[in-house]
Amino acid sequence: MSQAPSVLFVCLGNICRSPTAEAVFRHKAAEAGLNVKIDSAGTHGYHIGKQPDKRSQAAGTARGYSFKGLKCRRVEESDFETFDYILAMDESNLSNLRKVSPEEYHDKIHLFLSFADSDHQEVPDPYYGGKQGFELVLDLIEAASDGLINTLKR
Ligand code: 4NP
Repeated sequence: MSQAPSVLFVCLGNICRSPTAEAVFRHKAAEAGLNVKIDSAGTHGYHIGKQPDKRSQAAGTARGYSFKGLKCRRVEESDFETFDYILAMDESNLSNLRKVSPEEYHDKIHLFLSFADSDHQEVPDPYYGGKQGFELVLDLIEAASDGLINTLKR
């Protein structure tokens, strides 16, 4: 029996974009009947142990996603071996991941939006902006999640 595929979403702080990706993808994968191991982490440790940002939770909850039980953690060395897909929200996360991971795992690391049919290549950091930024994060993450689900179904 083949093992369930595993996906790790990564941003800078693991309180806005990557927990949103975890919540959205968990919901969509369940809807699609896919068995996937899903987690998220940050490249930096500013907010370890904290729940996702209240603004991310408000925007995501309004679209029906659950953030229950999510808690900020930093990327660990073992993640590179554990996960099949390590998906960065922006180029800076991508380059940080490539810097800290053994080269043998570099082909697991991608920009999450490479799975979306979108003009955007990065999920922009919403932390210092207004509400619209959090809506854009959700729009982009929903599109990439649909694309990733189609890839995993194949
Ligand atoms: P995230 O957003 O990377 O999407 O979780 C940020 C969260 C916190 C900070 C920056 C971005 N910060 O500077 O504390």
